[in-house]
Amino acid sequence: MAAALKPGFVPFTSWHGVLILFCGENLKFGPASRRIVSRMGETLRRAAAADRFTGKSGSSLDVIAPAGLEVPRLVVVGTGKDTAPSSRDLVKLGGAAMAKLPGAAAVATIVAELGFGALKPDQVAELALGARLRAYTFDLYKTKRKNDEEQRPKKIELNFACANPASAEKSWTRRAALADGVVLARDLVNEPGNVLYPGEFARRASALSKLGVVVEVLDTAAMRKLGMGALLGVGQGSAHEARLVVMRWNGGKRGADPVAFIGKGVCFDSGGISIKPAQNMEDMKGDMAGAACVVGLMHTLAARKAKVNAVGAIGLVENMPDGKAQRPGDIVKTMSGQTIEIINTDAEGRLVLADVLHYVNKRFKPKIMINLATLTGAIIVALGQEYAGLFSNDDKLAERLTKAGEATGERVWRMPLGTEYDKMIDSKFADMKNTGGRWGGAITAAQLLQRFVDKTPWAHLDIAGTGMGSPQSDINRSWGSGWGVRLLQRLVEDHYER
Ligand code: BES
Ligand code: MN
Ligand code: ZN
Repeated sequence: MAAALKPGFVPFTSWHGVLILFCGENLKFGPASRRIVSRMGETLRRAAAADRFTGKSGSSLDVIAPAGLEVPRLVVVGTGKDTAPSSRDLVKLGGAAMAKLPGAAAVATIVAELGFGALKPDQVAELALGARLRAYTFDLYKTKRKNDEEQRPKKIELNFACANPASAEKSWTRRAALADGVVLARDLVNEPGNVLYPGEFARRASALSKLGVVVEVLDTAAMRKLGMGALLGVGQGSAHEARLVVMRWNGGKRGADPVAFIGKGVCFDSGGISIKPAQNMEDMKGDMAGAACVVGLMHTLAARKAKVNAVGAIGLVENMPDGKAQRPGDIVKTMSGQTIEIINTDAEGRLVLADVLHYVNKRFKPKIMINLATLTGAIIVALGQEYAGLFSNDDKLAERLTKAGEATGERVWRMPLGTEYDKMIDSKFADMKNTGGRWGGAITAAQLLQRFVDKTPWAHLDIAGTGMGSPQSDINRSWGSGWGVRLLQRLVEDHYER
């Protein structure tokens, strides 16, 4: 599955395998790197001149069998202007450095300093996080390895030479919890629908109990008792039964209201009776990216023993056409008592979330609720794949999410809500209908969700553009991006821990 990359932390003087150095513009090296480079005499300067390498950001210089050093290969990674890097810059840089590692290398050492000098332990850990995320591949179902990337050694030992290896190692344990959460989310999104149906997804989420997460799995009988007619309506055309998984991490004050995260977990979205066109339908195995993010986040919070009470809830269904499938025109009753007329069975995510949002709000009285969903194609039309859509009834929460997005690079863009949009989902026959027409499609979907959250501070992240198939970046080459785990981990760490 995920290529295993085990970061190690060593002193500046100890290096093994391929050596990776950073340098700023005009070949500006930090002191430890300068000492290494000086052992090469004029070789480095000559190689740089021959390749017109000056240290620009994004560029690199590869010296094979460098004279004067006992390493097989030296890679110099340009960092551009030598300014103080943010944590987001460092994660990116770790990814960029990993990318320059030659395909055959099984052991390498990154000298963890920039032009102005050594990095602090937390900063070294950020580099390691970026490298680990970049190294991720999903090759579980490949029986042959073709290109360089696929032929990388199964295990890569990546050392970070730094000023204080013991503290860097300690910083890394926190970061490793985050890396593992992102990797878990990516794995879940990448898995095909025949493997990861609701029951199997619930089993994988249940494995969090090993970390001290309390996991409950509700089957269709339990959900019927609760009156979750909207969620069950979506799942009724599938041979795979729906599930609701509730995960609780209690690391905060006893009895303190939790923060809650809710995920859309449509394990495959064929559209149902309002069936989708064949083109790209295979992508709809990823229509559970919201749920995957929630599981990845709960993993991270538990693994680093976050001082917070957190609830994760995911509605798992498969949306299929069938003799038993729900029809356009059907009217379903939600757990909240409100009724919904089904206009289009392909607008299923909001139906699932309507019941899960209400359930979580009523049972846990959370201080905030955040849901993630690959909800609408319309959000991709509006924002492309760089930003997720943010909808919220609470300015403070929206502001916090926006800031966490800038800090991590998982950015969100706030979209409007309002009574004019809300009217668009009024129905002739029921309390509301499940689509509001083509115009403002991401907004009317969010309006439906808002009808199920009452006064609780709430945010909805429409991740249809960012959760899967998003542009490849320095820290992600995977189709399933694991988007949102770093964002929400940051939000919790900055605002909701005691
Ligand atoms: N899962 C889709 C949204 C989606 C589309 C996610 C593309 C990722 C990539 C969702 O269930 C859906 O089908 N939405 C419809 C709603 C419409 C029928 C009102 C859409 O966006 O077309
Ligand atoms: Mn759909
Ligand atoms: Zn969907």
